[in-house]
Amino acid sequence: MRNDIERVLIDEASIRNRLDEMVSEMDRDFPEGPIVVVILLKGALVFASDLLRRMERPLEIECLNVASYHGGTESSGTVDFLDRHFPEVRGRHVLLLDDILDTGRTLHAVANRLREEGAAKVLTAVLLAKNKSRAEAISADYTGFEIDDEFVVGYGLDYRGRYRNLPYVGILKAGVIG
Ligand code: XMP
Repeated sequence: MRNDIERVLIDEASIRNRLDEMVSEMDRDFPEGPIVVVILLKGALVFASDLLRRMERPLEIECLNVASYHGGTESSGTVDFLDRHFPEVRGRHVLLLDDILDTGRTLHAVANRLREEGAAKVLTAVLLAKNKSRAEAISADYTGFEIDDEFVVGYGLDYRGRYRNLPYVGILKAGVIG
């Protein structure tokens, strides 16, 4: 697996340090008391697991499966909610976690839905944000790292289902993609 990586973009130590900083920022912004953390599967799993173990506040975890259609169906820009049930968030403070902010459609759609469902406050956090103009004018409240607009894998992010378990964020060798 590691032989498929052209270069490491963000190493484990940098991720660890940044997660410590992000949790301090979140602790400052959320009022005391329990929050609901909504994790977007599958990409945000690794990020969430490391981030949440740094938090000392009481929290509940919810997971959401969404599918966003880009590329061939980019024009529709649809984000589908795949779960039968939507988490109960009425009146709750919610932290929404995703792996990467790309076009912005996913985070925009899910944050809106959480507000529609009555969440008292929704704050969003992503490990990575691609430095590009977005289909939706959205930025996350907390961003781990800004990166160039290139395809990345590792630390939750996959290529064809693989590489999510790499402990760092990296770029694949050109020969691997195809
Ligand atoms: P949008 O475009 O809605 O999408 O912000 C975010 C989702 O798109 C996927 N994505 C990537 N996955 N490497 C990946 O492995 C990437 O470079 C990448 N860019 C976008 C990802 O599922 C994310 O949640």
